[in-house]
Amino acid sequence: MNDDRTPTPDTASAIKADDADSASDASSEAPPGALDDQAPQAPAEQAGATDDEAAPLHRRGIKSYVLRAGRMTQAQTRGLEEVWPRLGLTLDDGRQDPVSLFGRQAPLVVEIGFGMGGSLIEQAETHPETDFIGIEVHAPGVGKLLDEADKRGLTNLRVYREDALRVLDECLPEASLDRLQLFFPDPWPKKKHHKRRIVQPAFVELVRSCLKPGGTLHMATDWEAYAEWMAEVMTEAPGYRNTAPAESAPYVSRPDFRPLTKFEARGERLGHGVWDLIFARDA
Ligand SMILES: C[S@@+](CC[C@H](N)C(=O)[O-])C[C@H]1O[C@@H](n2cnc3c(N)ncnc32)[C@H](O)[C@@H]1O
Repeated sequence: MNDDRTPTPDTASAIKADDADSASDASSEAPPGALDDQAPQAPAEQAGATDDEAAPLHRRGIKSYVLRAGRMTQAQTRGLEEVWPRLGLTLDDGRQDPVSLFGRQAPLVVEIGFGMGGSLIEQAETHPETDFIGIEVHAPGVGKLLDEADKRGLTNLRVYREDALRVLDECLPEASLDRLQLFFPDPWPKKKHHKRRIVQPAFVELVRSCLKPGGTLHMATDWEAYAEWMAEVMTEAPGYRNTAPAESAPYVSRPDFRPLTKFEARGERLGHGVWDLIFARDA
């Protein structure tokens, strides 16, 4: 493991945030101010809550995120107020039928924790033949994504502002996804916080049940120790096959469909590493 390299903006914010028991880099893009008051329901209060360590985080009362204060820009507020009724989805909508949701049969991609949404918007715009569902708890990010989706006239994108684990569990149909994307999840670097990492055996099993046979789980991280953790969890998870070629396994090169973020391009110039993992459901 090598945690000695200079932290990137993501990891640096995660370390700082970790000290304050928080790790949401996307939140740092929103100016501090008004409270983000629409926290999802506390998982421990949900039906099916359990102490079982093998259960998904949301059933154990553990969150992989921290909701932080963040003032909304005008555009973000417009997104949440004016665009939400058309593109927003809630847990109360129940189990989705993607064909009736989008009005067509098309490949379906879900992205968890899209932050401010830059990469997801770019993908939805450059792949009109594919439908996308974004899931994020950070209100300014959701507002920004909605505002941009509307300005670009995107019809192939829908959004949840919820804990992604609950959306996977309660709203996505079994075997419905062609790809699930998890780009730069909070690394929760301190050992005592590792239980808050979203990538856990129960999470990848939940993802597997939502993937079509042959569908893929694509993860990327700039935190080497988390990349190793992901590789270990995935290698031990039943029903997955690593798509990495032998020469780079367990990692793959960044595929063209994953846009390079500004922060990542800067990291590359500074010689920081990024690790992509793509595993396919094979059972
Ligand atoms: C480090 S940021 C990365 C954001 C973005 N993917 C990027 O590359 O810039 C991680 C994001 O995941 C979100 N997140 C963490 N756990 C989540 C969960 N269980 N459900 C929905 N979003 C979550 C956080 O709010 C945060 O915006």
